[in-house]
Amino acid sequence: MEKKAELYRGKAKSVYTTDDADRLILQFRNDTSAFDGEKIEQLDRKGMVNNKFNHFIMTKLEEAGIATQMDRLIADDEALVKKLDMIPVECVVRNVAAGSICRRLGVKEGMDLSPPTFEFFLKNDQLHDPMINEYHIQSFGWATAEQVTAMKEQTFKVNDVLKKLFDDAGLILVDYKLEFGVFNGEIILGDEFTPDGCRLWDKETRDKLDKDRFRQGLGGVVEAYEAVAARLGLNLD
Ligand code: C5P
Repeated sequence: MEKKAELYRGKAKSVYTTDDADRLILQFRNDTSAFDGEKIEQLDRKGMVNNKFNHFIMTKLEEAGIATQMDRLIADDEALVKKLDMIPVECVVRNVAAGSICRRLGVKEGMDLSPPTFEFFLKNDQLHDPMINEYHIQSFGWATAEQVTAMKEQTFKVNDVLKKLFDDAGLILVDYKLEFGVFNGEIILGDEFTPDGCRLWDKETRDKLDKDRFRQGLGGVVEAYEAVAARLGLNLD
C-alpha cells in the first residue's frame, strides 16, 4: 500500500491518501493537545501506543459485530482504514459524571449515571465543539434521522462491549467519544478509540489513566496508557 498525499492533519493524527481510492492511512503522532489546541506537547511513544491500542479495541468491536473502518496495522504508528465520508458530529456516552457535564450541569464528578447518558457535539474547533441535539443534526443536514438512530445504537453497543472489557481489566469506562462516517451507504465507526478520547479510572483507587492526566498536569500520561494496555493483555512490542 503506497502512502500518497497528506489529506488532513488533525491535532494528534494525520490522514494520508493511498493508491487505493477506498483506503486511507491514519498516522498517530506523538502530539498531544487539550483545551482546543491551547496546550500541546509531544509525548514519546504516544503515537505507537495509541495506534496499537486503537487497533486492539477496533478488532474487539468488529468481533462483537460492530462495523469499523479498521483494516490492519501497517506500521508502529500507522493503520490502513476504509475511507469514510465523515459525519461532523461527536457521539459521547457517559457512565459516570466527569469533565464537561460536571461544569455544565453542576453535578459532582464520580456520580454514577443510570441509565448512561448520551450527548451529541458538533465537531467544530472554532465554535469549541458546541453541544447539539438530534434536530440540529437533521435540520442542518449533517446526518439523516436513520443515521442518527444508527449512530446512537452503535455508540451504546460499543458501551456494552467496552464497559465489560475494561471492567474485566479492573477499570471503569467513565465516558468516551466516537465519530462515525458512511461507507457504501452504511454507518461505520471511524476515527479512534484510545485513552485520548475516553476516561478510564482504576476500579479500586479511581486513579485517572487517560488524557485527563495531560489536561490536569498529573504526569505519567503515556505510562498510564501503557498500564491500561498491559491490563488488557495488549502487547505493545
Ligand atoms: O470534555 P467532555 O467531558 O465533554 O468529554 C467527554 C469524553 O469525550 C471524554 O472522554 C473526552 O476525552 C472525549 N472527547 C474527545 N474529543 C472531544 C471532546 C470530548 O475525545 N473533542
